[in-house]
Amino acid sequence: MDVKSGPDMDCSIQETTALTFYVNGKKVVVPNPDPETTLLHFLRTNLRLTGTKLGCGEGGCGACTVMISKYNPSTNQVKHLSVNACLAPICSLHGLAVTTVEGIGSIKQGLHPIQEKIAKSHGSQCGFCTPGIVMSMYTLLRNIQNPTVEDMESAFEGNLCRCTGYRPIIEGFKDFTKGSCAMGKDCCRNQTKLNNNDCGQTVVNGYDSDVQECVEAAVRFRVFCVHAFLSSVRHLLYQWKLFREQLSSNYFTSVIEELVRVANASLNAIRGPIYVSKPERDLRDRCLAERMQSRLALPNTLASIIADEPDLSRRKKANCVMQNGDQQTDLLPTDSTQDPIFPPQLRTRVFDDQYLYYKGERSVWYRPTSLDQLLELKAVHPTARLIIGNTEVGVEIKLKNMHYPVMIAVTHIPELQRVVSNADGITIGASVTLAQLDQTLRAAISTLPEHQTGVFRAIVEMLRWFAGHQIRNVAAIGGNIMTASPISDLNPLFMAAGVMLHVASKGVEIRTLKMDENFFLGYRKTAVDSSEVLVSLTIPYTQQNEYFYGYKQAYRREDDIAIVNAGIRVLLEDSTIRDMSLAFGGMAPTTVMALNAMKQTIGRKWNDSFLNDMTGLLADDLPLAVGSPGGMTEYRRTLCVSFFFKFYLTVQLSLNKQHITNGSKVPSSYRSATDSFQKESIKSAQIFEEVAPGQPVEDTLGRPLNHLSAYKQATGEAIYVDDIPPYKDELILAFVFSTKSHAKLINVDPSVSLTMPGVVDFISFKDIPGQNMWGPIEHDEEFMASEKVVCMGQIVGAVIADSQTHAQRAAKAVQVKYEDLSPIITIKEAIAAKSYHGEPRVIERGNLREGFEMSDHIIEGEVHIGGQEHFYLETNAALAVPKYEDGEMEMFVSTQNPAETQMMVARALGIAENKIVIRVKRMGGGFGGKETRSVIYSIPVAVAAEKLGRPVKCMLDRDEDMLSSGCRHPFYGKFKVGFTKDARILALDLELYSNIGCSLDLSRPVMERAMFHCDGCYKIPNMRVTGRLCRTNIPSNTAFRGFGGPQGNFVSETYIADIAAALDMSPIKVREVNMYSEGDLTHFNQKLENCNIRRCWDECLQSSEANHRCCEVAIFNSENRWKKRGISVIPVKFGISFTAKFMNQAGALVMIYRDGSVLIAHGGTEMGQGLHTKMTQVACRALNISMSKIHISETSTNTIPNTSPTAASASSDLNGMAIKNACEILLERIEPYRSQNPKGTWEEWVTAAYFDRVSLSVSTFYKTPDLGYDFETNDGRVFNYFTFGAACSEVEIDCLTGDHKVLRTDIVMDVGTSLNPAIDIGQIEGAFTQGYGLMMMEQQKVSPDGFLFTRGPGAYKIPGFGDVPIEFNVSLLRSSFNSRAVYSSKAIGEPPLFLAASVFFAVKEAIRSARGDAEKSRIFQLNSPATPERIRMACEDQFTKQFPLPEEGSFKPWFVEL
Ligand SMILES: Cc1cc2nc3c(=O)[nH]c(=O)nc-3n(C[C@H](O)[C@H](O)[C@H](O)COP(=O)(O)OP(=O)(O)OC[C@H]3O[C@@H](n4cnc5c(N)ncnc54)[C@H](O)[C@@H]3O)c2cc1C
Ligand code: FES
Ligand code: FES
Repeated sequence: MDVKSGPDMDCSIQETTALTFYVNGKKVVVPNPDPETTLLHFLRTNLRLTGTKLGCGEGGCGACTVMISKYNPSTNQVKHLSVNACLAPICSLHGLAVTTVEGIGSIKQGLHPIQEKIAKSHGSQCGFCTPGIVMSMYTLLRNIQNPTVEDMESAFEGNLCRCTGYRPIIEGFKDFTKGSCAMGKDCCRNQTKLNNNDCGQTVVNGYDSDVQECVEAAVRFRVFCVHAFLSSVRHLLYQWKLFREQLSSNYFTSVIEELVRVANASLNAIRGPIYVSKPERDLRDRCLAERMQSRLALPNTLASIIADEPDLSRRKKANCVMQNGDQQTDLLPTDSTQDPIFPPQLRTRVFDDQYLYYKGERSVWYRPTSLDQLLELKAVHPTARLIIGNTEVGVEIKLKNMHYPVMIAVTHIPELQRVVSNADGITIGASVTLAQLDQTLRAAISTLPEHQTGVFRAIVEMLRWFAGHQIRNVAAIGGNIMTASPISDLNPLFMAAGVMLHVASKGVEIRTLKMDENFFLGYRKTAVDSSEVLVSLTIPYTQQNEYFYGYKQAYRREDDIAIVNAGIRVLLEDSTIRDMSLAFGGMAPTTVMALNAMKQTIGRKWNDSFLNDMTGLLADDLPLAVGSPGGMTEYRRTLCVSFFFKFYLTVQLSLNKQHITNGSKVPSSYRSATDSFQKESIKSAQIFEEVAPGQPVEDTLGRPLNHLSAYKQATGEAIYVDDIPPYKDELILAFVFSTKSHAKLINVDPSVSLTMPGVVDFISFKDIPGQNMWGPIEHDEEFMASEKVVCMGQIVGAVIADSQTHAQRAAKAVQVKYEDLSPIITIKEAIAAKSYHGEPRVIERGNLREGFEMSDHIIEGEVHIGGQEHFYLETNAALAVPKYEDGEMEMFVSTQNPAETQMMVARALGIAENKIVIRVKRMGGGFGGKETRSVIYSIPVAVAAEKLGRPVKCMLDRDEDMLSSGCRHPFYGKFKVGFTKDARILALDLELYSNIGCSLDLSRPVMERAMFHCDGCYKIPNMRVTGRLCRTNIPSNTAFRGFGGPQGNFVSETYIADIAAALDMSPIKVREVNMYSEGDLTHFNQKLENCNIRRCWDECLQSSEANHRCCEVAIFNSENRWKKRGISVIPVKFGISFTAKFMNQAGALVMIYRDGSVLIAHGGTEMGQGLHTKMTQVACRALNISMSKIHISETSTNTIPNTSPTAASASSDLNGMAIKNACEILLERIEPYRSQNPKGTWEEWVTAAYFDRVSLSVSTFYKTPDLGYDFETNDGRVFNYFTFGAACSEVEIDCLTGDHKVLRTDIVMDVGTSLNPAIDIGQIEGAFTQGYGLMMMEQQKVSPDGFLFTRGPGAYKIPGFGDVPIEFNVSLLRSSFNSRAVYSSKAIGEPPLFLAASVFFAVKEAIRSARGDAEKSRIFQLNSPATPERIRMACEDQFTKQFPLPEEGSFKPWFVEL
């Protein structure tokens, strides 16, 4: 045992203490934990509990969420906390209980209702985020039996999902909240009582506390349904078995009898709400009816329950008919293990009282239990890191490569945990968590007089926007102060409030210092000495006439760090300023105070003239040199003034209300400027056509079935590459990435790395036995750099070691010497340097010159659309297993492109493709990012496995993935458009430029698709579009959902909006005037057949009531100066098929086994889009058998060769056709046996065919007919058909901050005859949300030298739960048919993404209104994404005027527009 006594000090302990905690009810003892090991690593690697996922490693995605339960001896209560396992040091778990997704339910034992719900409500697509979301919900329900919708939405602030768009998760889980049941007052939760209490708050008194907890759990489940009640009984039984020695069976008898009584009393009321369509409701009712019947046999004594128990599970299994048609899913009632009670062994203070010391490979961990011990340790180790929540230190270790040899946990020091109210305020211990702080202040707010709690209210409001629950549950107030981050959210409030800090060091009296302008000494430096610790702080009360508010602006409302934040305080006497404090974050390397402004204002009157002076004073006090770290300098300066303006108005309103006269009054149109941002709960509708009444029940085609893996995903049992159990002798690979954008490689020296612990080898290009050059179109890229690096993040080599930690540490130690070359980073730089790939592409139709001549108006403009990080939740991963015979290798890869991976591995290894098998079970998202770029990681893994003869695995960390994998192409468009005075476009000359990065990859077809989509939905008789590929020194940009289409569409909607502005006409009208009709020819001469644009458009206008709401928006805007609304309707037409003709092919292999079961292999991969589910439905219809007989296991190159990537939205079309063909052939073969025995079963016909020596497997092939476009002649068919849609969005912006919210979105989408409406709606909502990120939020920040700042969810914001439109309606176009795809369906993956532009252009309309008020030009350039910065700065006014943009080229910006 490696546990040591403490250092030289009286408090040293003599006995060793092994780290002890519980995971899912099982005791875990770790004698020698490594302080640098996280709980996530331990769960996944040591306990092989792989349900908890690694999505980012920095607390920003929530994929790793687990529940930690802690006993509080003083209250005798157990507290449950959602926590990010990726940041929780394993050493912090002593005496705690951990519950993971595996602990609450499984396919075999029965799903927990939460798991079942997320699966059934279509809230899981790729599933990688699902366990984390389940655990956030589970923790909420453990803490609050009847949460509100707001509680629930708040619980998800720390979780991200890249697939679903969140709506189905929120709607599904509303079932568990109060006040949202579709049954209204008939909801079971309003009916049932226990012990005459409200069911939501019931506590059965008088039992042992363990039993009580069982009962609470049972009661909670009982409110869901009888099915859950039965599980509660099972749960009790389980507890009884566990604790029978400690508990008398009488307890259980009475508890169970009480539960039975409750169940009987409540049965009639139990119904389940929230089902999206009638068929689903019917199924649910059937299921419910069966459950009701089973209830009749409810046992009512303990003995009979015990006797019944085995039967119980069987009966439920048989009864539980789930949504997947006739498929018997293995759903059991929730099992006892699903809700492990808090282990009684942890109901003691013994663990808390133990002094801990652990020594790891590089660091030691102390956990003192008294202040004296802590001060002693700090005196001995002044540079030690103190750990509370580890949310700062954990990120530093993981992402900033920091190493802290000594860590001291300060979580168990009574003085640091205390909360005491006193005469001046409330004194709060430094280790008090932010969640506890929130609770404490809320309690004070509810009891103290309002005037005393100004600071408290500002802190509570700020905490709403501070990280997510997982962080707030562990991060402490002391950690926030002492990190001294310039963008800390609390420090500006503390400084403005004049918080007093109490610090201690060994042998010295506690000293108190004020948090004022002298507290922060520099970047991350404070006036607290290294020998001192922060013990507590006193937050003062406010007094009468003292006003205190906090402000924060971030990219995303929820869980985002501030761009600028502020704490502003004023003390007035009548309307004269007696004292004032102004503290700002984000304006300097530390939180700063506007000292001069504070001084100058004392004694002044609070009125408009004071306001005018203040804006100047603030501007002087808060300078920010252009190009300062963080960039956006003019915006940040404007924000400070805007915040103050809001504060001014708020105080002024209060003075007006109190009738204090100061000569100033707030105009009514200014009032809304003071409203703080309010979150509203979402409502939604999804409308689709049910299948025809006569369709047999067994035929699942067209039904809204669940994703076939949804249940496994919800329980954490779905296997992704990194979850595959390790092979014997498996090694882990970590990459060495280039740190230069453009440089010669002088030397790569791995010698130090090779001596490091666990390291086995280093590989570079020299180890590639075959070819090092590759590329999906042209081989213009190296797998591993040989002489030169052409972007930051290029792979230079890789270290292979016994663990990921060892491999990554050693990779960072590889010495690479470069000789700098000058890089090209942006499109504009590439244009200036003529750095193009190949010749430009041109499409021209009509006579441009004549078109312009006939035009009444001609306008010219330009616009830029930024790139987008894929942010699939599962990063790139590959596992190579050498087969030891004939040079064979098997690889498990997270790729959309198994065939390309196979080909490239074979090329790199110099062997034939037939020796390589690539297998893909599923991906945790792809979105195009794993179409080609996944190859660059697979090859070094294969090379290492081949070289070492051992299995080698690699899963990238999020920052590595974002750094190296490439993104959506940024585009720059320049247009000249001619139109008539009634807005008809006659001519368009358009130049498109894309930033392709350092190699061609798929950039040419991406540009081609952009060129094919730059007409939008508009007929333009004379048109020329030229596309140029700009070669730069950033990672190669690649496919991303939409594949250039959205970029082309974006330019088209920009010129449409400009035409509307130029003519002062409604953009809706301009769009209608120019909209394509049936039979029109596009600029690439494709005739539009079955052109449903108009239908989608009209339905959308009608269902959204857009025209009427336009008037309401206009009224709102006329009444509000600083809040503006905008509404926009955008149509979309998206061409379906790969533009490279040869790729429009697919294969399928359908095999019928002798028991009648069917195994299908096809060329498409499953990345969450539900392809396998749809393909199973296709086979179900084609074979006319039940879906339960059909299985798709994986995608592999040894079943279907030479597959096209799963991309271009075309995989259902192509593979569906191939499967349908195969099934039809098989059916034909079986037909004779069916005719001979018409009353027989499928199994009998199959058996007969087998004995008659009929082949029961078919391999088929499909290619899309009639395709073939020629750029030279602008002739031939590009697309098989088009998918159409339209969306209407309404937004509200805050003109002072650039904030916005989406009030409502209505989408009408033409998906033909849907194969699965639930999946199609999921694709629409998911694509819309991703498009919303592209257009509104996701901004890549790259330095002028090519350094990527945005390498994780902390810096790069994708939409979160809070970004769902407040009203979100999706409907599928009725009676749409498509003869060109399988069963009349249409492709859907990509087309809806651009509908999110309706938000962008609604924002543009809102800005236009603000500019109108300020008498600024109505035509203005708004680039995408429309970040808060861009919105604010486009709303030009008297404040922005103070901070004019410096001239381009006159300074070095902090980040550039790619
Ligand atoms: C995903 C995520 C989101 C975040 N969002 C926000 C946000 O919205 N706003 C914001 O302001 N911050 C945010 N943060 C930053 C972080 O959560 C806070 O700074 C947090 O309060 C740190 O507390 P901790 O207990 O985790 O600190 P730890 O990481 O445990 O410690 C941080 C530092 O404080 C020092 N320290 C701790 N206790 C003491 C003491 N008693 N005396 C002296 N020094 C001490 C430690 O030595 C260490 O250097 C976020 C972080 C993450 C990971
Ligand atoms: S992996 Fe822990 S929050 Fe992302
Ligand atoms: S389902 Fe949420 S990330 Fe894929």
